[in-house]
Formats: sequence, C-alpha cells, structure tokens
Amino acid sequence: MTRERGPAASTVGRVTHVLVTGGAGFIGTHVTAALLDAGHEVRVLDSAHPAAHRGPLPRDVHGAPLVRGDVRDSSTVAGMLQGIDVVVHQAAMVGLGVDLNDLPDYVGCNDLGTAVLLAGMARQGVHRLVLASSMVVYGEGAYTCPQDGPVRPAAREVSALASRRFEPACPLCGSELTPDLVDEDARLDPRSVYAATKLAQEHLSAAWARQTGGSVAALRYHNVYGPGMPKDTPYSGVAAIFRSSLEAGRAPRVFEDGGQRRDFVHVSDVARANVAALDAEVTGFRPFNVASGRAATVGEMAAELAGAVDGPRPVVTGEFRLGDVRHIVASPARSAAELGFTASTALAAGMAEFAHAALRR
Ligand code: UD1
Repeated sequence: MTRERGPAASTVGRVTHVLVTGGAGFIGTHVTAALLDAGHEVRVLDSAHPAAHRGPLPRDVHGAPLVRGDVRDSSTVAGMLQGIDVVVHQAAMVGLGVDLNDLPDYVGCNDLGTAVLLAGMARQGVHRLVLASSMVVYGEGAYTCPQDGPVRPAAREVSALASRRFEPACPLCGSELTPDLVDEDARLDPRSVYAATKLAQEHLSAAWARQTGGSVAALRYHNVYGPGMPKDTPYSGVAAIFRSSLEAGRAPRVFEDGGQRRDFVHVSDVARANVAALDAEVTGFRPFNVASGRAATVGEMAAELAGAVDGPRPVVTGEFRLGDVRHIVASPARSAAELGFTASTALAAGMAEFAHAALRR
C-alpha cells in the first residue's frame, strides 16, 4: 500500500527521518500515514504481537518500509536507529488484558522494550522521542467537592459498586463530587498493570531525557477509536466492543449506569497530534493530553453508534469492572497552546463513520 507524499517537512528545514515502533498496529498505521503526508521519511518496526495481529504483516505501511522485529532486541533496534532523527514509540501491549498471567508480557513489551529503545537511542545519539502514553496514568479523573474543593477520590469499593453507587464520594466529607477536566499536572495514580507500565515508560523516558539532554513529548491518549480498531478482544477498548456487538446484531452492553464519562478521540486526530509533537520544540520531558476536550458518557457513545447503524438499542446492565475509573475527561489546553493541536472530529460524525468502518481482525 503506497501513498502520495506531501512536500518535505519544512518546519525543520530538511526531511526528518522517523522510526515508528508499532507502526503496523491500529494507531501506528494512522500515525505513519500522517507522518508521510507531512513529508517525513518513515521506517516502521513492528513485532506482529499476537494480541494485535493475526496473520503475516504487510511489507510496508502506506509505503513506509516495515521490518518485523521486537523492540526488546537491542541489535534490531540498533539497525533500525541508523540515520534516524526522531523515534515515535507506539509499540506496546494495550488494554486491561486477560488476567495476571499477562503481567510479564505487559512489563516486557512496554517497559523492557522502552528501556532497550532508550539505551539504543543514547548510544546512537538520537535525541528526540514522541512517546505514546495514556490517560490511564491519572487513575480517577479530577473532581471538586462543594465543601472541600478539589479532591482525589480513592478507588471505588466493591460494596459501593455492587449496590449501584457508582459515583466516587469526597474522601473528606462523603459529599457527591463534580467531575472536572484533568490536566497534565494532576497526580498520577495508575490502577492497572497496563497503567503501571505506561507510567513506567514515562518515568524511564524522563530519566533518559535528563541524562542525555534529549526531549520527550509524552502523548497521553484518551479513548481512541476509528477505522482499523481491533475487533472485540480482551485488549480492546469499549468503542470496538460495542461496534463488534452491533455487527453481530447484538445490543451494546453498557456497564454501570452508563453515566461514566470519557473523552473519545478519533484516531486521525491522534495521528495529527503525533505530527504536531514531532514538529514542536519540546524541552526535556513534557506530557500532553491528546483528547477531544469534550466529555461524553459511555451511554451516549453507545447510543450514537447504535443509532448510526439502526441497530439494537444499548442495554444498561449495572455490571462493573473493578479496574474501571468513573470519569476521566481531559483538558486539551496544553496541547493546543504548546503543540498547536486541536482535535477536529466531533463525536457524532466520528461514530457515524466508525459504525461502518472496517475493523482489524
Ligand atoms: C481505555 C483503554 C486503555 C487506554 C485508554 C486511553 C482498554 C481496555 N482500555 O481505557 O487501554 O489506554 O482507553 O485510550 O482498552 N464498558 C462498557 N461495556 C463494555 C466494556 C466497557 O460499558 O463492554 C465501559 C467500562 O466499564 C468503562 C468504559 O466503558 O467505564 C471504558 O472502558 P474501556 O474502553 O475498556 O477502558 P478505559 O479505562 O476507558
């Protein structure tokens, strides 16, 4: 699959040579296409991890040469880094996973992989990294109590969830809280294995930046959806799960009471954010929310998707998952101010397209 190239990237005065790790995956494919469109020279490293891929990899990603290899393998990484200016590191295991047997694989792929990559970059004098991070590093979102002001609630108790008390309460007075936008300076509180590995990636790359004088733009993706999203697997996000249900003629099953809020961001916007991060002047380690800036409830998203295909109406089940947080909606202010990035796909338009888009099998 090849693609028309844009003009050579003019912001840096010359073509930038970019290595995209995980560039054959859902988000990586879109990022690679956007980088090529912006005029960059791109090469892709992807391990074809079975959690994300079935069957052989293509020979290229939109015309960018693709090497099958593992980011944990230092000699592969050394070869891929030859002549590279910037690494865009998308390779990771995502999602909640199956069970704790997944733990070594998450830590290996995400943290050992990042460590091998950073060591290789230090050795070969590659000083710029764009890191795919995640909003999961925040844990629960930001909240305000009418009496106590800004507070961070603890993880919700099983007993509260089982009796359908889904809203977290003020840790000081027990009052009902109002959810706020979470900004990049919020306290970090990873609550799953995946979240812990994403935060470790941030910490490792921050240490690397300090020691090498390099720069890291850590893009904290919110809930990404769009064409090419993997079908329903234990590693899929909720949009893909609902989309797969509708395709099979089943109603989306909305957990809790459907009022939990997320920021659903279209994958084409995420790809643009990566291009913006690559072009921006970032000093040291700097995290950025990559989000639409508009909250939607999971119930609203399910209704948009079901409505777009005239499918069965969503069912609100009251089920819950212990690892889930209630609301997490981002402030997009820093990305707008410092990267010049603003998401452009509205939820209704994005879901209408996603309802009919091909999924990755
Ligand atoms: C998701 C991703 C996470 C990613 C983050 C940011 C997963 C499992 N989680 O986190 O990896 O880093 O976005 O992009 O991929 N729900 C239902 N019905 C279902 C499944 C889920 O109602 O069948 C609800 C959940 O209870 C939750 C919400 O949908 O309230 C979002 O779930 P999900 O997309 O799985 O996880 P996030 O925590 O938002």
